Amino acid sequence: MAHLTKLLFVSIFVFFVASNMPCRVQGQPPVPPVPGVFVFGDSISDVGNNNELPTQSKADYPPYGIDYYWGPTGRFTNGATIVDVLAIYLGFKQVIPPVVNAKDIRQGVNYASGASGILELSGKNLGANFSFKKQLAIHGITISRLTAIMGSEAATRSFLNKCLYIVTSGSNDYLQNYYLPVSATRELYTPERFADLLITEYSQRIRVLYGYGARKIALFGLGRIGCIPRYVMQSNGSCREDINAAVRLFNDRLSALANEPNANLPDAKLTYINITGIQSGVASQLGLTVVDTACCPTERNGFCVRSSTPCGNRNEYLFFDEYHPTEVVNNATAAGAYDAGPMDASPYNIRTLAQLP
Ligand SMILES: *[C@@H]1O[C@H](CO)[C@@H](O)[C@H](O)[C@H]1NC(C)=O
Ligand SMILES: *[C@@H]1O[C@H](CO)[C@@H](O)[C@H](O)[C@H]1NC(C)=O
Ligand SMILES: *[C@@H]1O[C@H](CO)[C@@H](O)[C@H](O)[C@H]1NC(C)=O
Ligand SMILES: *[C@@H]1O[C@H](CO)[C@@H](O)[C@H](O)[C@H]1NC(C)=O
Repeated sequence: MAHLTKLLFVSIFVFFVASNMPCRVQGQPPVPPVPGVFVFGDSISDVGNNNELPTQSKADYPPYGIDYYWGPTGRFTNGATIVDVLAIYLGFKQVIPPVVNAKDIRQGVNYASGASGILELSGKNLGANFSFKKQLAIHGITISRLTAIMGSEAATRSFLNKCLYIVTSGSNDYLQNYYLPVSATRELYTPERFADLLITEYSQRIRVLYGYGARKIALFGLGRIGCIPRYVMQSNGSCREDINAAVRLFNDRLSALANEPNANLPDAKLTYINITGIQSGVASQLGLTVVDTACCPTERNGFCVRSSTPCGNRNEYLFFDEYHPTEVVNNATAAGAYDAGPMDASPYNIRTLAQLP
């Protein structure tokens, strides 16, 4: 019976994968072009790392995961995250596991943690403390574990050089720091200087990651944060264009960082994934009808009310809670990142980056 259920699930799953993927994606490669994927970042990519952390930033309860096979796992959406779907596109049979309970780390792990940011301070208002910096420190521990498994430092190094690295960080430096109602950071920095600060820190993190052997590194830009339900509700139905403008300063600098000839990082292949660009056409492309309201009833902090009943037509909503897109949008974003054109990924989309020698 268990076998039958599993088989049924697998075939339904394969059917869905086959039927829901846009036709420009030519199905899974038989063998992934990279041996593993490591994910760093925030709730966009968190797949359960916050579950045991003392933070308000959690998604391990219903209705999160309502459309996910395993239910609420700590993913901040109703179903799969962008990185889950990318792993499938890349040909992995399983999603990349959260570092906190990964049984098998040989295809990489995911360190992403909701509410975390580039700056140590960002997200502390919610209690979280799995910053980008801390995630890198934990990566160091993973590398020791891998060396024990692989038997030699050389083999581990070669593996790490071939893997794909995805970074989705920066949103919370705006959401849970600069644009908090009361923010010392905002008093200290203009948006330009703040973007400079973030990029300086970010490039240091990338240098550390590179030192750990990373070569193929995808830097995800930020979306139009000023248009999330959280802000639209506070500003009488319109986007906070001041926030969008500040985020654009960050994105422009991040894109430049990914595209500058980097003499200090020999053999590094960085790329910038333009999430704003990729998501700009998604609402009309998917025929979404609700783009400024959360699908689930939300708490004051913007997360779903525990055990609440979300909207039924989830494939018509852009947002699941006040911050995070629905699965249907994540799927479209993953498809976009995988096969992006030169306006939306520079210099490489995910497919090309993964296939580079
Ligand atoms: C988070 O911070 C608390 C209190 O400072 C600490 O006890 C805990 O170990 C930290 N967790 C992580 C994952 O760093
Ligand atoms: C929203 O509308 C209310 C009432 O019309 C007004 O007092 C408030 O300033 C508006 N807020 C914003 C951010 O526009
Ligand atoms: C990303 O895409 C948007 C929308 O197409 C475009 O305006 C912007 O210049 C692109 N590049 C960056 C770095 O965001
Ligand atoms: C999103 O993609 C996943 C993985 O390919 C699939 O299982 C799911 O059905 C898709 N969801 C939607 C709403 O298209």
